[in-house]
Amino acid sequence: MNGKRTEFSISILSSDFSSPLDSLAEIEAGGAGWLHLDVMDGSFVPQLTFGPKFVKDLRPHSGLVFDAHLMIDSPERQIDAFLDAGCDIITLHQESCIHLDRALNRIKDGGARAGIAINPSTPVCLIGPVLPLVDLVLVMTVNPGFGGQRLIQGCLSKVVELVGLREEEGYDYLISVDGGVNLDTVQDVAAAGVDVAVVGSAFFNEADKPWFLERMTALAKESHK
Ligand code: DX5
Ligand code: ZN
Repeated sequence: MNGKRTEFSISILSSDFSSPLDSLAEIEAGGAGWLHLDVMDGSFVPQLTFGPKFVKDLRPHSGLVFDAHLMIDSPERQIDAFLDAGCDIITLHQESCIHLDRALNRIKDGGARAGIAINPSTPVCLIGPVLPLVDLVLVMTVNPGFGGQRLIQGCLSKVVELVGLREEEGYDYLISVDGGVNLDTVQDVAAAGVDVAVVGSAFFNEADKPWFLERMTALAKESHK
């Protein structure tokens, strides 16, 4: 999949939390393959969302790839709970995890794919030592904590850097971006070389979701290197 097409991971953060199963159905009917689960603790980021029980309860209702993004302090304490919840990918933030190598290996040993996320102010060099072992790098294109923010264009240079490193070093990670991806920005994202784009508010604000995803896919395809 590297360098070929852009997958969309739909974030339920911007959905109606009173009816999550309806949201799953909309995502599946729209044709997206991944569900992005934004876990927030009110400390690493200001908002609180949900924990592993919510994810575990959703799991039997969906065949989507469960892509958990842990925006929490000391995420290593929650890895086992999110593994048990049935996540396919668990992504931790470089900024909130001291023993990153150990935590990422714990995710992989537990049978899930391990992701590392970096905030807009964090350079790629700070995750250099773990790039050989991660399955996904999540480049935040907004400061984490809220849906509906504007994409910070400067962050896309980190995607280009990660594409180059993957090629030079023979690494195997997918490159994802999170924040501000919509019909106006998807071409820039795809042109940078993104494999998986997280989309929240742009999807849930659109009435015709199948049309939206078809259009996003077509725009991304035109621009992808
Ligand atoms: C932001 C979250 C994102 C958010 C993206 O902290 O990590 O996943 O849901 O939402 P949009 O697409 O609205 O920027
Ligand atoms: Zn996210």
